[in-house]
Amino acid sequence: MLDTNRATQLALSRRHRRLRRSETLRRMVRETRLAASDFVYPLFVTHGRDVRAPIAAMPGQSRLSIDQLPDEAHELRALGIPALILFGLPARKDARASEAYAADGIVQQAVRVLKDADPDLVVLTDVCLCEYTDHGHCGVLGAGGVVENDASVELIAATALSQAEAGADVVAPSDMMDGRVGAIRGTLDGAGLPDVAILAYAAKFASAFYGPFREAADSTPAFGDRRSYQMDPPNGREALSEIAQDLAEGADMVMVKPALPYLDLIRQARDRMDCPIAAYNVSGEYAMVKAAAANGWLEENRVVPEVLTAIKRAGADLILTYHAKEMARWLQRATD
Ligand code: PBG
Repeated sequence: MLDTNRATQLALSRRHRRLRRSETLRRMVRETRLAASDFVYPLFVTHGRDVRAPIAAMPGQSRLSIDQLPDEAHELRALGIPALILFGLPARKDARASEAYAADGIVQQAVRVLKDADPDLVVLTDVCLCEYTDHGHCGVLGAGGVVENDASVELIAATALSQAEAGADVVAPSDMMDGRVGAIRGTLDGAGLPDVAILAYAAKFASAFYGPFREAADSTPAFGDRRSYQMDPPNGREALSEIAQDLAEGADMVMVKPALPYLDLIRQARDRMDCPIAAYNVSGEYAMVKAAAANGWLEENRVVPEVLTAIKRAGADLILTYHAKEMARWLQRATD
């Protein structure tokens, strides 16, 4: 009896290794698979013509002028990537972020060109004021340089509306003002645009990992920081409460951002909510991999799939990532 038990135990203890013996066996029992359709590719658009200006802290990423976008759209779709998210660099910044909600603003123009080039491409727009304000904060300032929530929400809703009118499929508020999701939903519905979806950057932390993005989008605050409106990194329960609030206000999808330092919250959000969960593999996470790879310290073609698979395993249905194109190329080759 004892012997039988021991034999069974031994047999079981070998079970996992037996299924790891070859790549085909491993593939057969793999629990998580990346696909190009998981990705949303972030893109920075700028005024001018024939511009492809490399972003130093994000090797491989550039700011593009609008004439470059149709080719970009075709490349993404050929790789099986269904969606992109736009960030704009305005011609002029001012205290009220005027270009954020201008009908001919840089993002509004970009949306029109992209939807014209490929109506089925899913175009998301980042809704925020920080790229458009002369002080770099995500809202407008009141007395004493404090970001005013309600005045900011009005301009944020106007920004979302102008992007939706230009043809955006999904608007994604990243400003973290209170009540913006409800205000955007109300504004879109009131304007006869009930089908435009909202992806809320619901749990967005005041993270040091946005550094390279702020170079790319020229959105570093001129003074202070974003800690009064973005979340405090140690607060997990509060993140779930932000997510619940944005869903209650009418968000269709919610995001956790950054991704890697907050995998626990992606998992908890996935377990508790029924909506699609997005995760943003942000600029600093991308820059770390690129810098280490450039030094020969990490093998990029193994690290990138490991990172993105971890984000998906944690529960993300969508991954916003600057690695999207290279990862999609590797996936294509793997199935050739
Ligand atoms: C705008 C915004 C930021 C990011 C996305 N939308 C920057 C910030 O909040 O400072 C960061 C994206 C990245 O780092 O890749 N508010």
